[in-house]
Amino acid sequence: MKSDYLPLGVLVSGRGSNLGAILAQIKTGQLPARVCVVISDNPLAPALSLAAEYGVPVVVVEPKNFVGKITYEEAIVTALREQGVELVVLAGYMRLAGSILLGNFTGKIINIHPSLLPSFPGLDAQQQALDYGVKISGCTVHYVNEIMDGGRIIAQTAVEVLPDDTVATLSARILAQEHVLLPRVIAEIQR
Ligand code: GRF
Repeated sequence: MKSDYLPLGVLVSGRGSNLGAILAQIKTGQLPARVCVVISDNPLAPALSLAAEYGVPVVVVEPKNFVGKITYEEAIVTALREQGVELVVLAGYMRLAGSILLGNFTGKIINIHPSLLPSFPGLDAQQQALDYGVKISGCTVHYVNEIMDGGRIIAQTAVEVLPDDTVATLSARILAQEHVLLPRVIAEIQR
């Protein structure tokens, strides 16, 4: 029998504030999910200590220890499967998902991105938004496919760009909305 708690695997590369938002909402009972494993490609990611604080198993899978992307992603898939993960959440994971990850979790991988896609995919989305002069930006949760930030959009939150915004101020306001949007989408995803 399936539990009522959606088993999540969260892939990270860095800070982990979105992971923190997920873990906090699970702890308070707002999000009926369970983070079974946090996997990082970066052994120094602050997200790893955050996961440990919550007692979540962590696995570091460093690309440099593998001959190529296939074996690297096979190690990730093994770690996800060992923990019974049903939904993979990319939360600041700084790599493009490849065929092994996509093939093993088809339609079961989501990502959060700090712009209103399809505008400003890739790195430095907030800087791109400021450079372009858009008056509204925001964040997007989308399914992951082989195209960078290119999968079908699930949900978005708009954030106004203020005349005196810097990358730091705009990023902070978008990030606050990311922390609301990502747990909400996870809670709404049907198994
Ligand atoms: C977030 O802005 C997210 O949208 C992007 O990477 C950043 C990760 O931040 N994909 P954090 O590690 O969750 O704090």
